[in-house]
Amino acid sequence: MDRYLIRDVSDTAMLVAACRAIETERSDALFTDPLAGRLAGERGRKIAGSMPHRAVTLWTVAIRTVVVDRFVSSAITAGVESVLNLGAGLDTRPYRMALPSSLRWIEVDQRNILDLKDELLRAETPKCRVERIALDLAVRQDRRELFDAIGSTSSDTIVITEGFVPYLSRDTVARLAADLSEQPTFRLWVTEYFSPAVIRWRTASIWGVLDRLQRKSRSMRNASFRFDPGDWHRFFADEGWHLKEMKYLGEESVRLHRPVPMPWFVKPLHPFMPRARRQQMLRMTGYALLERALDPEPAGSRPRPRPRPRPTEHSGNAGWVMEPFVRSPSPGRSAQGSRWPPGCPPLRSWHRARRPKLAGLLGSGEARRCLGA
Ligand SMILES: C[S@@+](CC[C@H](N)C(=O)[O-])C[C@H]1O[C@@H](n2cnc3c(N)ncnc32)[C@H](O)[C@@H]1O
Repeated sequence: MDRYLIRDVSDTAMLVAACRAIETERSDALFTDPLAGRLAGERGRKIAGSMPHRAVTLWTVAIRTVVVDRFVSSAITAGVESVLNLGAGLDTRPYRMALPSSLRWIEVDQRNILDLKDELLRAETPKCRVERIALDLAVRQDRRELFDAIGSTSSDTIVITEGFVPYLSRDTVARLAADLSEQPTFRLWVTEYFSPAVIRWRTASIWGVLDRLQRKSRSMRNASFRFDPGDWHRFFADEGWHLKEMKYLGEESVRLHRPVPMPWFVKPLHPFMPRARRQQMLRMTGYALLERALDPEPAGSRPRPRPRPRPTEHSGNAGWVMEPFVRSPSPGRSAQGSRWPPGCPPLRSWHRARRPKLAGLLGSGEARRCLGA
């Protein structure tokens, strides 16, 4: 048996679900996620229990969940019609948030985690139209084809990468950001922010080295954080994404009356720290709402989105791991015999183009994935 509880990055989805389940059980819970416990299972709780900085992990997931919920709600109120959640893991927002039934919510993650999610949520009904796609998002060609397919069939879209980009290399995140910015309908993007101090701490300082040794020797050895953007703002701006709004987790936690659990050696020093230093500590990590930059326009002209690239010809890449299904908020509405409930067929043409490959990949049993049908 693997001595490390987290065997690969997909297991971190269970960790996050366990954190949300633990938050839900608190008398002062910041949100309730009734399905999180089921999704996390015993394994998720064990993983959460094994984390070297358990209290900080629980705190981070709780605050970030509230922050991302609010970004999503505000975007929907402002007219966003689709949500694209990359590295969606075991997140249950389509089931627990108040959402319009017309909203299109697309979740992308690795096959094993989406299979588990399908299985455990089979009896549940989401509040909106949910589509799940199993894909290795690190494979650029596949990702770009998926973005083309979604971008050309959706209108105003918010992309979420919550707890996902830290596991990717700098180059992969840069290319991901560029690929997202090519889609005119992908207007907003919610993603993590790390201050330069956090990055330095993780990569250079003695505490960072000790921390990494401890993490590597324990829980996170098989799912290390890799993303080091350098200058975070410049990194995303260079790839076509501008900051629209930042929510620092420390500051949000003060507002939510859930102060950050400090290490024992920092606590007694904290009141004596200069104000600027304390402020800096509150702004170490956060979640950013990015907005897709428009092409520079001649002075005086109206801004126009970048031209949308034509969907590429399917190149017959052998690496497809794709399994779309759509779950309707009202399964009874589905057309008889159709895998795609009426009103939510946006990936149908994409799927159709790949049917021969999919048939081979999925086999007859697995092909019946549209729970709404
Ligand atoms: C820490 S979890 C976060 C899950 C979810 N966003 C949440 O906050 O509940 C990270 C997720 O990213 C997914 N992930 C990491 N690398 C991936 C890749 N290359 N392709 C698809 N999913 C990936 C993992 O499977 C995992 O579900």
